[in-house]
Amino acid sequence: MTILVTGGAGYLGSVLVPKLVARGHRVRVLDVGYFGLGHLGQLKPAVEVIRGDLRLIRTSPQRLHEIVADCDCIIHLAAISNDPSAELNPELTDEVNFRATSALAETAKAAGIKFIFSSSCSVYGEESEKLVEGDAVAPLTAYAVSKVMAEQALKELADAHWSPIILRNGTLFGYSPRMRFDLVVNIFSLYSAQHNEIKIFGNGEHWRPFLHVGDCARAFVYFAELAEPQHLCYNVAHENLRVIDVAELFRRINPRLSVVHLDMPDADHRNYQVSTRRLRAEGFKTQVSVRYGAEEMVEAIVSGLIPNPESIYYRNA
Ligand SMILES: NC(=O)c1ccc[n+]([C@@H]2O[C@H](COP(=O)([O-])OP(=O)(O)OC[C@H]3O[C@@H](n4cnc5c(N)ncnc54)[C@H](O)[C@@H]3O)[C@@H](O)[C@H]2O)c1
Repeated sequence: MTILVTGGAGYLGSVLVPKLVARGHRVRVLDVGYFGLGHLGQLKPAVEVIRGDLRLIRTSPQRLHEIVADCDCIIHLAAISNDPSAELNPELTDEVNFRATSALAETAKAAGIKFIFSSSCSVYGEESEKLVEGDAVAPLTAYAVSKVMAEQALKELADAHWSPIILRNGTLFGYSPRMRFDLVVNIFSLYSAQHNEIKIFGNGEHWRPFLHVGDCARAFVYFAELAEPQHLCYNVAHENLRVIDVAELFRRINPRLSVVHLDMPDADHRNYQVSTRRLRAEGFKTQVSVRYGAEEMVEAIVSGLIPNPESIYYRNA
């Protein structure tokens, strides 16, 4: 297949693109390059990298038509991709995450191209029950609102002839050629490896679904190749853990670690667990635990695989 990966130079895309190439797909990346594109250089000529803003779909639709014309599938990752970044400029977040997504999906539908969207379990907000895909969403931030609106637009486009696939991914962790150190497991890895200390806001009792970046990439490959998915929307996660459970895993990896509870509530109020029964029934199984991914990350840091890991370059906002 010829597959367009928007945002393919980001944290997830940089793990996904080599997996697609390894399976024999032709890959085209469209990315504005907020965090650089150079790390994809070694994948040329198997991968065509186009530096461009997805919002060109509104100003130069013809150029976008040329980019997608011969594609069999679009994997849409490009986004302002976390809460703090999204709050910096809610208008930009709305334009990229919602409006450009909706316009890109319309283009895909008109051309009969498969469309897979990277949404987030953040759409659920705060809920004590284990959530399934049909449960109500309750977005708490500009980022989560933009994902809910994009999902809604995609659902409205779906009909008997064309249906998008929405993957609601858990919080990612693990090594990528384009690292992010603004994700909780990765942050704990950094502070455990560099300072033997991690800090938790409040009691750390809030739940999160976690997903290794490699498993997430495999899920996109799986759905790109799946002929007839049963559903439009899937939760994708490996395990639900509280933040204090994650800290405890790090204590087992690093016996010198001290876990400090800061006497202030976490500004991030997300608290939810998700069910992945639908994903498993579709035939996809995640493989990588937080424990394994945490060790992978700590070892990547202590062995110098990630140069200057405390650089702000690795924090999206
Ligand atoms: N990382 C996570 O924990 C996580 C969890 C759930 C869902 N997601 C979603 O998965 C996707 C990928 O996440 P990530 O962690 O790789 O994010 P990332 O920020 O590392 O990558 C996003 C990429 O999109 C590009 N981009 C941004 N705006 C663009 C535009 N207007 N035009 C073209 N390219 C643009 C950026 O340059 C970047 O390379 C995002 O949609 C994100 O919301 C991520």
